[in-house]
Amino acid sequence: MSHILHPTPRNFHEIGEPITAEIFRFDPTKDSQPRMQTYVVPYTHRMSIFTLLREIYENIDPTLAFRNQQCGRGICGTCRFQIGVIGKSVKSCTVPLEPGAHVIIMPFKKEKVIRDLVIEF
Ligand code: FES
Repeated sequence: MSHILHPTPRNFHEIGEPITAEIFRFDPTKDSQPRMQTYVVPYTHRMSIFTLLREIYENIDPTLAFRNQQCGRGICGTCRFQIGVIGKSVKSCTVPLEPGAHVIIMPFKKEKVIRDLVIEF
């Protein structure tokens, strides 16, 4: 079992209002312009921004690209994204979400995007 904080199975611990996430999407092999895609995701106990992305990938949209196998402890920094309108840089595995939250998730460096939230190191 992964050591990464992960929500319990779907519908088991849904509590509170769902999360609304606006996420940067861009596939340079298909898209001429980046776009924002909105997801409404059931809130689960102990959900972080990183586990929100996993929930979307596993249960809503498997085309969403982000680096998915990381430390989950705030050490490696590969889950770093720009969050919110002002683009605050955060390690997403360390940011808990509250029920009903609205979050905007952008790649850490837009000029280095490979696809969606995945950037070149
Ligand atoms: S997964 Fe390593 S810092 Fe978040």
